[in-house]
Amino acid sequence: MSAKVVVGVQWGDEGKGKIIDILASRADVVVRAQGGNNAGHTVQSGDEVYKLHLIPSGILYPNTLCLIGSGVVVDPNVLLEEIGGLKARGVACKNLRIDPRAHIIMPWHIALDGLSEAYRGKSEIGTTKRGIGPCYMDKAERIGLRFYDLVHPEIFAEKAREVGKLKNDIITKVYGGNAIDIEKTIADYIGYGQQLKEYMDDTSVLIYNAHKEGKQVLFEGAQAMLLDLDMGTYPYVTSSHPVAGGFCIGAGVGPTMMDDIIGVAKSYTTRVGKGPFPTELFDETGDLIRNRGHEFGTTTGRPRRTGWFDAVIIRYAVRVNGLTSLAINKLDTLCGIGDLKICVAYRHEDGRVLYDFPATIEELAKCEPIYETFPGFEGDISSCRSFEELPEGCKAYIAKLEEICGCPIKMVGVGPGRDQNLERA
Ligand code: GDP
Ligand code: IMO
Ligand code: MG
Repeated sequence: MSAKVVVGVQWGDEGKGKIIDILASRADVVVRAQGGNNAGHTVQSGDEVYKLHLIPSGILYPNTLCLIGSGVVVDPNVLLEEIGGLKARGVACKNLRIDPRAHIIMPWHIALDGLSEAYRGKSEIGTTKRGIGPCYMDKAERIGLRFYDLVHPEIFAEKAREVGKLKNDIITKVYGGNAIDIEKTIADYIGYGQQLKEYMDDTSVLIYNAHKEGKQVLFEGAQAMLLDLDMGTYPYVTSSHPVAGGFCIGAGVGPTMMDDIIGVAKSYTTRVGKGPFPTELFDETGDLIRNRGHEFGTTTGRPRRTGWFDAVIIRYAVRVNGLTSLAINKLDTLCGIGDLKICVAYRHEDGRVLYDFPATIEELAKCEPIYETFPGFEGDISSCRSFEELPEGCKAYIAKLEEICGCPIKMVGVGPGRDQNLERA
């Protein structure tokens, strides 16, 4: 059977949670494979709004298996809060499974995230300060604690004592911060492990078997291509691989399993945190998009930077992710803001016109967007329930985006609700 991948193709917050929730109604398994609770995925079901950080966005369907793969970094305290919050709202988490290989975010990761950002000063990345980068650093350093350790108290205590001492030396001697109480941390985390151990399972095996049995598997991207450690605007990126290829490693599956790769974008561009953003708007149009689109971070509440749709980025995404289609969200936000600009290429300061996204931020800084202006559209499209119902101006805009991006647009979002996603064959 088919396995679908849903990836963000800008700088995050494209509405991946909404798309996953919609597609999950037809899926048997939903898998998160990278990132952690730096993600904030919004799912709206009727009047109920759920903000999910670690738990896959298929959780609202009682029979859908929701997997946290080996590539995710798990803050057990946050996970327990999320499970508790969902249970209190009547959402059972009995189908949640966490891979024993998934790394655990420790208090020293969170402390070091804040301290290293402060140390960077003006060149800070603007991280979510959830300990994501420091946790992945320990994974690469091969001193990380994993979910298997968390549910085995003796193993956990021994490893945490050893690593904790090193981390406290770094916190206090390098950064001048306050030491973490290691014994209290160990006791707290062993408690979390006991509450979470029922969820442990080898998620690579679960995905493989489900796929072999003909079940539908859906891979849920967190963050987005331009935050990818290799393909993003380094160093202003996250520490994992949000591109489609990242799923093979983070979920323990082969690339031949994936046959449908859906890139999610907004009809404009946003970014939270620092780093280059060629089409950023600093005028009232930018404010208008921010306010009308409620562009404030799901995880940190920070105002999101806003700008025009950048087709250079989307063409890059088609290449890097092997996209088979695009989902364009928030078309409703653009209604009534006047003429629309689409960045179709960049002009390099040496005079060249670039159609491919530059590989480094130094080269990107030498580029200016080349825009095509497109007539805006008026009215309220949020009540449209099929693509055909959209005004001609909207349809023409979508056709233009398809042409410039070189990828079919198979979904168009006209609101945050499940029924506000217009699908096309
Ligand atoms: P994610 O991180 O990619 O899952 O996206 P977020 O949940 O962080 O941010 C997307 C926001 O846009 C959420 O508040 C969604 O409810 C909302 N949203 C998603 N699609 C649409 C859409 O088509 N129109 C509007 N107006 N809002 C949308
Ligand atoms: P979703 O899944 C938007 C950004 C942070 C910062 C950079 C590094 O909701 O789209 P980190 O804490 O990961 O080390 O921060 O990455 N960032 C996101 N921006 N959406 C996200 O997730 C993000 N996750 C991380 O703002 O710029
Ligand atoms: Mg988000």
